[in-house]
Amino acid sequence: MGTDKDTRLKNSDTFNDNQPIIIRRSTLEDLEGVIQVNENELPEDYPYFFYKSILDNYPESFLVGCNSKGEVIAYIMWRVEKTPSINSLKLVNKGHLVSIAVSNQYRRLGIATALLSNSMERIKKYKINEYVLEVRVTNYPAINLYKNFKFLTRSIKERYYRDGENAYFMTCKL
Ligand SMILES: CC(C)(COP(=O)(O)OP(=O)(O)OC[C@H]1O[C@@H](n2cnc3c(N)ncnc32)[C@H](O)[C@@H]1OP(=O)(O)O)[C@@H](O)C(=O)NCCC(=O)NCCS
Repeated sequence: MGTDKDTRLKNSDTFNDNQPIIIRRSTLEDLEGVIQVNENELPEDYPYFFYKSILDNYPESFLVGCNSKGEVIAYIMWRVEKTPSINSLKLVNKGHLVSIAVSNQYRRLGIATALLSNSMERIKKYKINEYVLEVRVTNYPAINLYKNFKFLTRSIKERYYRDGENAYFMTCKL
């Protein structure tokens, strides 16, 4: 398990002079904080073992943002899925964005942008050829964020969420 120093990323330090934010790889000790941010900011909850399995399997692209007190105030996690290629029977790897959230009081500082750009670079280690994600059709902040990264809407997944809301399925080629 890496220390803060080991896992801290380059070019990721301050977003605001008053509240320096560190972006770094998540550790096991961060998971409670990640879960707290998820529960506060998103209606989708996951059990602890789900976060742990993502961290065990895809640690490179599981990042957290921490404030000056060391509290987790943001996270991003991806998994890698093998799916058939459109052109052949070969299986190809896709990076699937599982979840991203920034605590309300730290929004519009560029933290999600930093989490996405760092993790999209780091997940290449898993030899993916495409990034994919689902987003609620009414989640305009997130849709704008993904469009900034050149994600395109490919389809609508009807009633994708438990409450019945539809999702946009968005993809971005490497
Ligand atoms: C979506 C979310 C992660 C963005 O986090 P953030 O750190 O505030 O985002 P950034 O500061 O990096 O903003 C990047 C871009 O996203 C878009 N964006 C962010 N918040 C927005 C808002 N309230 N309205 C419109 N666009 C917004 C903008 O294009 C923004 O670029 P700009 O500031 O240059 O205009 C954050 O709002 C959040 O945690 N929401 C709740 C959880 C969630 O919905 N996660 C996504 C699930 S698919």
